[in-house]
Amino acid sequence: MTTANSPVADGRILVPGGYGAVGTAVAAILGQWFPGRVVPGGRSADRARQHGGVRVDVNDPQDFRTVLDRLGDVGAVVLCVEPPDESVARACLERGVHLVDIGADERLLGAVAALHDTALDSGASAVLSVGVAPGLSNLLARRAHEEVGGAQRIDLTVLLGSGERHGADAVRWTVAGLAAPTTARPLRVELPGHGLRTAHPFPFSDQHTLTGTLGVPRVTTRLCLDSRAATALLFGLRRTGLLRAADRPLPRRLLTDALGRVHLGGDAFVVRADAYRDGLHVARVARGLRQSRFTALVAAHVARHLLTGGPAPGVRHVEEVPALADLPERLAGDGLTVLRLTDGPR
Ligand SMILES: NC(=O)c1ccc[n+]([C@@H]2O[C@H](COP(=O)([O-])OP(=O)(O)OC[C@H]3O[C@@H](n4cnc5c(N)ncnc54)[C@H](OP(=O)(O)O)[C@@H]3O)[C@@H](O)[C@H]2O)c1
Repeated sequence: MTTANSPVADGRILVPGGYGAVGTAVAAILGQWFPGRVVPGGRSADRARQHGGVRVDVNDPQDFRTVLDRLGDVGAVVLCVEPPDESVARACLERGVHLVDIGADERLLGAVAALHDTALDSGASAVLSVGVAPGLSNLLARRAHEEVGGAQRIDLTVLLGSGERHGADAVRWTVAGLAAPTTARPLRVELPGHGLRTAHPFPFSDQHTLTGTLGVPRVTTRLCLDSRAATALLFGLRRTGLLRAADRPLPRRLLTDALGRVHLGGDAFVVRADAYRDGLHVARVARGLRQSRFTALVAAHVARHLLTGGPAPGVRHVEEVPALADLPERLAGDGLTVLRLTDGPR
């Protein structure tokens, strides 16, 4: 077992969820950068073995600790599946193992952020809010916030391609989000390449995190799909209240199955952050193809920073790590376009 205060900089990289939609790409990218050091993991012993990895269950903290201790030289864990609580993060940080978390659950991210002192004690670093949203959305929000000299309000808009094959875990998360209550209003917003679109409030974690990390009092994230018809259908269904009650698993399951199977649109995604201060307004936009791939690219870059960049110990959200501030531009070679839009005083 790794002792406290000794992160293994040249250790192996365990990727729980490492043969899922995002995890497969994370493992492939990291495998190119760190040959022979990536260990994908999942609950199926067969599938894990096929991918050269190990069986691991993040729902079972004891199992996860045993796997970490048995591997013995894990330098970083890139969590590509959402565990039920912060036990997995605690196991990593207590052992001085760096952590990258692509999870998007506000409550869970808060519980992991509370492990800051544990990470300080062991010398490990954890980066949270990693991916497209949260992730690129946090980084663009920070940029726009700084460009208006400290925003009073930020609106985040995410457009996802309904033709992309999102992983089962991500689809379940989306359907759960549709069932969550909301008080914010939809917004009409121009999304480069997709025209003027109606985006609907959606419980992405970034809007909660950013009020704390940037100190902006009002942050709202909204979602639309590239297909106008699919957007209208999904959010029309939300208005019916059919998905809301926790004791209605059937409509949720039917919708999860349908979303997993039906691929109506393309695979483009857009993230837009609008920051407002008095008469000032700046928008930062990033667009690309295949959000799963870009989630993986962001996660891989963050992992590389933790393993090679001499990171400060502690738990931080991605927008709190100065060395990652230019990550959107670094992804230009992978096809990410980053724009700055401004409409002057208003
Ligand atoms: N931040 C972002 O922008 C962003 C974007 C996309 C997705 N995400 C998040 O990323 C996660 C993965 O999404 P995905 O689309 O890649 O999902 P996915 O395709 O369903 O992959 C999930 C993987 O995790 C494994 N797994 C499931 N339960 C597990 C457990 N208890 N212990 C260990 N492994 C387990 C699965 O294999 P087995 O079933 O064999 O275990 C599968 O390989 C989701 O939590 C999603 O919310 C974040």
